[in-house]
Parts: sequence; structure tokens; C-alpha cells
Amino acid sequence: MKKAEIFINGDKLYEVPVIIDNMGGHSLDITNLRKDTGFITYDPGFGNTGSCRSSITYLDGEKGILQYRGYPIEDLVESCDFVEVAYLLVHGYLPNLVERRKYADMLNQHSLLHPQMRDFFKNYPDHSHPMSILAAMSVSLQSFYPEIDLAEDPEKQMDLNVTRLLSKMRTIAAFTYRKLIGMDFVNPNYKYSYCENFLNMMFSSPVKKYKANPVHAKALNKLLILHADHEQNCSTTAVRLIGSSEANLYAAVSAGICALWGPRHGGANQAVIEMLQQILESGESLEKIVERAKDKDDPFRLMGFGHRVYKTYDPRAKIARSMCDEVLADLGTSDPLLDLAVKLEEVALNDSYFIERNLYPNVDFYTGIIFRAMGIPTNMYTVMFALGRLPGWIAHYLEWNHDPYEKIGRPRQIYTGPQPKKVLPIDQRE
Ligand code: SDX
Repeated sequence: MKKAEIFINGDKLYEVPVIIDNMGGHSLDITNLRKDTGFITYDPGFGNTGSCRSSITYLDGEKGILQYRGYPIEDLVESCDFVEVAYLLVHGYLPNLVERRKYADMLNQHSLLHPQMRDFFKNYPDHSHPMSILAAMSVSLQSFYPEIDLAEDPEKQMDLNVTRLLSKMRTIAAFTYRKLIGMDFVNPNYKYSYCENFLNMMFSSPVKKYKANPVHAKALNKLLILHADHEQNCSTTAVRLIGSSEANLYAAVSAGICALWGPRHGGANQAVIEMLQQILESGESLEKIVERAKDKDDPFRLMGFGHRVYKTYDPRAKIARSMCDEVLADLGTSDPLLDLAVKLEEVALNDSYFIERNLYPNVDFYTGIIFRAMGIPTNMYTVMFALGRLPGWIAHYLEWNHDPYEKIGRPRQIYTGPQPKKVLPIDQRE
């Protein structure tokens, strides 16, 4: 085992074990740093901090590599459907035909919602943001299925909890949309595949029977796979942190949904489309828009651009970009927002500010265009991201659960508050 040495003012403070991971990544193991030296480290945003050991997903931000359980994202998108990838992330291997069929049956069995949850939907405030409904419904699953916390054999129960969550979240997402447009819920239908079922629950109407659109279903499968996991991102870290207190899976996923909602994270896919629409309506030049994004005094940022890990083109953005052309061509339609996005990308990628900071399109830059082409409204885009990310969140929750190294997450701080003070009686305070 290699070691690193820390010196303070020339005196050797500490020897730190070096960990080399399965892809050659190097880490300094500071597990006992404070106990042995009294020092902590400081790393706002955790950009240089490994929070756990994980075998689920590998990212190489410099080379633009993304692998789920060792499989390159490009291959999974081409050769698998979302149910297979969800199985891969949760169970650690791709299912064979028998396992895939059994899994699909289990997902179907658990796709309906408890009748009281339907009432919960009906009484939830109208005009709510769909992510608020999704988060509330997720944590409320514990009330409808309390055995998640009461089971004698949690391990055995967990398989059911996971399948139940994966299946019901799809129904909850579709019902959320139906509530917001004031239409009756459409129940899941066993004759459809996972994605067709979702689209049927979203778009079927009494007057116009939903006709499974293979282009939409194929695109949705690919989009959900693209979103399925992404290592220790903000929302997955939230799920692991909540799980580390031994809160139940539904509560942890609800926290993940809330973290994903923010426009710096999953909320960016909605913000990208709103940004492109504003640019189109304003008629502002793209050069001016890019200048605004660079101006530190202007809160405007180029949404869908930049990434904490990718310092090159996000491999998912590459796939989503090519899917835009494919889906629009298959549907025989076009979208001025796509033309605008392509031009905006070109202006930004030729600007030294973006080049020097390695700011490229991320997963959110083009995915909204495809959701739009499928008729999914803008405020549902982050719900789609959450639906895709769910198996990843579950896999990380389970991995924490089974990892002997894991403890409750509890970081330290740099204290910037006042020195100790005396409490004055209230009548002596200014
Ligand atoms: C996702 O972590 C994940 O894996 C997330 C995700 C996943 O699958 O889970 O990939 C999904 O969240 C993708 C990101 C979606 N968010 C956006 O598109 C919002 C716009 N992007 C930025 O807010 C930003 O790029 C972040 C939040 C994504 C990353 O922020 P960092 O890593 O903290 O980088 P930073 O803010 O320190 O930026 C470094 C520099 C700064 O300028 P300087 O201080 O060096 O002068 O780059 C600038 C930033 O101002 N910058 C941008 C910019 N993003 C970074 N300037 C203009 N527009 C941008 N979009």
C-alpha cells in the first residue's frame, strides 16, 4: 500500500494511506486524520472528496466515459431497454430472458396505487409543481406500505419495496400529469411495456384511445437509460446521506427528488427549454446571450452547460443530441428550439470563456427537446429525470445498506461564528 506524507511547516504531521481504485483513481485515505492529528480537511461542494466506495457507476470526466456496472452507456442505450438497465443497476447484472420476464411481471403486479393515495392526489393543491407532488407521494408510500419499516426480515422485504417503488413511481408520475391537466387517471395496462404503459397513462383520453407510438416508446427507453445513474451526484448523495441514518427507502428517494428539483441539478432540463424559449421570443443575439452568461454581475447562466465532473462533452448529451434529429425526423416534425440550441452550443464552444473552463453541454441541454417532441410539458421534464434516476438512487441506497465501511454521514465544519458570550438578562439587553 503506497503512502503519502503531510508536513506542516517542515515537520512531518502524518502518513496517509493511498487507495488506488479499480480504474486507477488515486485517493488519500483520511479516515483517521482528525483522531490522529486534530486536523480536518475543507472541501466546499465535495469536489475533491470521495464519500464512499461504490461499484455501481464509473465516470471519467476528462474522457467523457460513463459506465453502469462496467457497461458503456452507448452500448446500453443501443442494446437494452430501461427495465433491463434498472435490473442491472439494482441487482448488479443484466437479466436473462426468464429474469427479465419475471421482473416485468412483478413491476406490473405492483403498478396500481392505494385508493387513499388517489384521494391524496385529488386533494393535493392544484397548480403544484409536479416535483412537489412526486416527493410527497414518494415519502407517503411508507404510510400505505408500513411493512418497509416493520418487516421481520428486511432483506427479503427489500426486494418487494424496490419493485413496488420502481413500478408505482411510474404511475405516480403519470397521475401527477393527469392531475395537473384536470383529467381522470388512467390505470396501468399489463398489455403495454414499461414505457408504453407510462405514455398510455399520460396521454390516453376517453375521446382518443392512445395508440402506442413506437418512436416515443423507443426514445423514452433511451432517455430513461441515459438518466438512470450518475455516481455521487447531488441527489444520489442526498439519498445515500438519508439512507445512512437508516431512514427507509421511500423517505431517502423523496429527498433525492427534492435535491434533483433544483435548477443547478435536474431542474436544468426545464430551465434549458425556458431559456431557449425566452431567447427565441426576445430575439436577442446568441453572442449577447453568451456574453450575459459570462458576466459575473448577471445571474444568467447558460442552462444545460457545465458540469462538476465532465470537462468534455457529456456522453449523454452526445446521445441526446443525435436522438433529437432521429425523433424529430421519425415524427416528421422540426423544432425551432433545436436549431437555436445547436447554434447556441456553437457560439459558446467557440468562446474562450467556455473553452478555458471546459464548459460543454451536459445531459440537460438537449433532452428537453425530445420530451417536447413527445408532447410532455416543460414542468414534467424533471419528473422524467427522476423516473430515470430512480433505479440509480435505489442501487446506491442498497449499496450503502450492505457496505461494512458505511457509517452515518456527518461532515465537520470551519467555524466562522462568534467567540463564547455571556447571556444577559432580557431587561439588560440593548
Ligand atoms: C446535472 O453531478 C452530476 O452528475 C449531475 C448530473 C447527473 O446526472 O446527476 O449530471 C445532472 O445536474 C447536470 C448539470 C445541470 N445544471 C445546469 O446545466 C445548470 C448550469 N450549470 C452550472 O450551474 C454549473 O456548471 C454546475 C452547477 C452544473 C456545475 O457547477 P460547479 O462544478 O460548481 O462549477 P462552478 O460553478 O464552480 O463553475 C466553474 C466556472 C465558474 O466561473 P469562474 O468562477 O471560474 O470565473 O465556470 C462558470 C462558473 O461561473 N460556469 C458557468 C456555467 N457553469 C459554470 N458560466 C456560465 N454558464 C454556465 N452554465
